[in-house]
Amino acid sequence: MSGETFRGAERGVEFPEPPIFERGAPGRRGASLAALDVPEVDAEAHFGELARATPAALPEVSEPEAFRHFVRVSKQNYCIDTQMYPLGSCTMKYNPKINEWAARQPGFTAMHPLTPDHLVQGSLEVMWRVQEILCAVTGLAQCSLQPAAGAQGELTGLMMMKAFHRAQGRAPMKVFVPESAHGTNPASCTLAGLEAVKIPAAKDGLAHPEEVLAAIEREGGDDVCGLMITNPNTVGLFETRLPEIAKLIHDKGGLVYGDGANTNAIMGQARYGDLGVDVVHINLHKTFTTPHGGGGPGAGPICFTDALAPFQPRPVLTKTPEGFVLDHDCPQSVGRMRAYQGNFGMFIRAYCYMREMGADGLRLASALAVLNARYIWSQLKDVYPVASDLDCMHEVVFSDEEIEKATGVKTLDIAKRLLDYGFHAPTVYFPLVVRGALMIEPTETETKQTLDEFVAAMRAIRDEADREPDLVKQAPHLTRMRRLDEALAARKPRLRWHPPES
Ligand SMILES: Cc1ncc(COP(=O)(O)O)c(C=O)c1O
Repeated sequence: MSGETFRGAERGVEFPEPPIFERGAPGRRGASLAALDVPEVDAEAHFGELARATPAALPEVSEPEAFRHFVRVSKQNYCIDTQMYPLGSCTMKYNPKINEWAARQPGFTAMHPLTPDHLVQGSLEVMWRVQEILCAVTGLAQCSLQPAAGAQGELTGLMMMKAFHRAQGRAPMKVFVPESAHGTNPASCTLAGLEAVKIPAAKDGLAHPEEVLAAIEREGGDDVCGLMITNPNTVGLFETRLPEIAKLIHDKGGLVYGDGANTNAIMGQARYGDLGVDVVHINLHKTFTTPHGGGGPGAGPICFTDALAPFQPRPVLTKTPEGFVLDHDCPQSVGRMRAYQGNFGMFIRAYCYMREMGADGLRLASALAVLNARYIWSQLKDVYPVASDLDCMHEVVFSDEEIEKATGVKTLDIAKRLLDYGFHAPTVYFPLVVRGALMIEPTETETKQTLDEFVAAMRAIRDEADREPDLVKQAPHLTRMRRLDEALAARKPRLRWHPPES
């Protein structure tokens, strides 16, 4: 094990941290409240059966106890603010702190979402500007910021496609989805009441027009609602044949949904509108440095052609000579997808990043994201076999096939051993089309120094797999928790604390 790259031991002093329920003592307080100066209320008389028979067993702790507990727990977290987070497909890029400053301005945070339009012109203008920039990035005419995540953007776009067909008196059901698409794509089709038809992945990892045509002919040519394609796809490759495929779909009366979650690899270089896409979503949290993880809040704006505009979610942000207004009178709209205007705080953060970078900066960011992934690929391909011979974009996918045959060490073991070296595990066993996939996305925000440390750790693990496979198979050794039974944790999660049996 290389002393230089061995960073697990640098974690400082750690203390065991029991749940806060196991701290404190009856009557201990963290705050001093003024004496009750209103009449005491009989809860049972007020709430009847809903009233609690016994008080909730809340922890009774002092302020330092509560504060220290949560700070200590927060220190056990692995986060982008402390280390590189090479999760492929999830794009854990650093969230610049200036974004947070902007989003915390009292004019934004204290604004009520129901304030009349004429009193929140500044906020509406920020939204308008974000929409304009996203239209420029995607090469599409219009934008809605409402969807709260990439997957919700997918659902919204598909609902709009469906509404577009219905408005023409058609109800085609089939959406062709290449196998290289993100997992949410077929799921969104089902949720939208459409039928996802899989197009098998070709050997090179790309979707090809010949296969799309064969699938259309096989599945009945008149029933084409559209195509849903992730580009760059989940093997980290650019779908070069998309314009030809889009033409095929358009010729059949269908529409093309582009999953643009990976725009961070192509912004400023290629535009979805030019590739034949009719509607696309962008994950602000993957491309424009807004935070994500832990379930949100995210933002998955969609951009689309003028032809799809009547069906976009309402209200529609409109620029009039009198100022910005939220137009609710949209009879063909698919309706509201999210409360109020979506996750507004994310729009400010994204806008801050867009303005700080400028057009040239955004172009450079995507070039660096690809360069960093290709650097990792070039530094590791002699010891980890790659999934595709084509040049990768923003993420690179390795397979464990050869390593497992030679040493018995699998993708999961490598991922766990990385934790001992102080790195978060990459995405594992996804995409499913690659055997034992190990998908690494460094993002543009990591320096060459950090990338070199990561490469050194990966190479050291490969070395260990040959010399001492059990060391890797039993990893992690240096984390607070050793290897967990993840299948059990997923199937029978214990999410509630119970008092220790006395
Ligand atoms: C290619 C792709 N599509 C869709 C999604 C779904 O986005 P979200 O997690 O915001 O719903 C992701 C998420 O990482 C993605 O990588």
